Amino acid sequence: MKVLVIGGGAREHALCRSLSLDPDVTALHCAPGNAGIAEVAELHPVDALDGAAVARLATGLEADLVVVGPEAPLVAGVADAVRAAGIPCFGPSKEAARLEGSKAFAKDVMAAAGVPTARSYVCTTHDEIDEALDAFGAPYVVKDDGLAAGKGVVVTGDLEQARAHARSCDRVVIEEYLDGPEVSLFAITDGTTVLPLTPAQDFKRALDGDEGPNTGGMGAYSPLPWADPKLVDEVMASVLQPTVDELRRRGTPFQGLLYAGLAITSRGVRVIEFNARFGDPETQVVLARLRTPLARVLLHAAKGTLDSEPPLNWRDDAAVTVVVASHNYPGTPRTGDPIEGLDEVAAKDAPHAYVLHAGTRRDGDAIVSAGGRVLSVTATGKDLAEARERAYAAVGRIRLDGSQHRTDIARKAAGQ
Ligand code: AMP
Ligand code: GLY
Repeated sequence: MKVLVIGGGAREHALCRSLSLDPDVTALHCAPGNAGIAEVAELHPVDALDGAAVARLATGLEADLVVVGPEAPLVAGVADAVRAAGIPCFGPSKEAARLEGSKAFAKDVMAAAGVPTARSYVCTTHDEIDEALDAFGAPYVVKDDGLAAGKGVVVTGDLEQARAHARSCDRVVIEEYLDGPEVSLFAITDGTTVLPLTPAQDFKRALDGDEGPNTGGMGAYSPLPWADPKLVDEVMASVLQPTVDELRRRGTPFQGLLYAGLAITSRGVRVIEFNARFGDPETQVVLARLRTPLARVLLHAAKGTLDSEPPLNWRDDAAVTVVVASHNYPGTPRTGDPIEGLDEVAAKDAPHAYVLHAGTRRDGDAIVSAGGRVLSVTATGKDLAEARERAYAAVGRIRLDGSQHRTDIARKAAGQ
């Protein structure tokens, strides 16, 4: 099977790594990729947001499957362009990707499907904003309606800050605060059949102790030793299957990866958000634990034949990933700094720990930073404590001037 992956973050590196280890995959391509993905896939300098260009590339490569990683190309309709060219594509249509692209649309789908989520108002005027903030009280949860790379959400006890963020958005969702730990649960779906993956937990705040601003995600781990073993079945029944059924009923079936961001509240599970693609950095730990070869499952989802697949098979190992970010992330990051120590990780920590590249590029012989989240070190172990130890040992070998990472990823879950 010839596979083309679209995107160039650590999530796509994780996908490409798994696909490169899959005996069904005979050729692996990625556009645009990054310096790390170049080691496992052939890169193509194609704009991921240009559906016609992606479809042309896929046709030229005689790809059997295209996997679209990030949300921006999905929301731009890249999966539609690939399917229109007659090539199976793992990734939802532009219409179905609105589940991520518009928080107001997601709320509408959840209401229709009876999916539990935070009560919310969609506001466009100053009066509506003030009324909604007043109705829910502190802590305030204010979400830009559109895509914002995980940075459009402000959760604050400060009314002025909440109001200022709300007023800076064209359309804003203001909602009830949900208390309780967060879980990311992914499902692969062909629009009818839903195959859940294993749950993971992400660390959204920039600093240790869940302090600082929201980011795209600073680390993740799986499994969740504290979670109810029935969680996956419960979320399948109350969230994933009803949402997939509702989108099919609307004539816009969701085909690809449905990401449910959940809060486990004292009153039960609530959806915080949906995403229309694999999460980053959760994918790094989920795929590290997946035993089932990935390509065939993604192809069945793309072709609408997922009902022929058995449940996925998972390793007992635990996995931890730690994101190394540039100076000043999630603000405008500093880029162009050399990254050293990657060879040492490969020599001393493999195969239990490895580096997945995100914002990196090759500059002559050097690899330099090229984005906010630069790379993500992933490690496996017999339990979370061992996976953590290996991940942080490898992070310690990487030298990037001004870089930052959290030191408490999976610490509590490991019982430390
Ligand atoms: P989102 O982009 O919707 O996932 O929001 C980013 C982060 O903001 C989430 O992972 C939560 O940590 C936080 N958040 C979002 N919505 C809520 C809510 N209703 N209650 C509490 N925290 C929230
Ligand atoms: N880790 C959060 C996200 O992928 O949106």
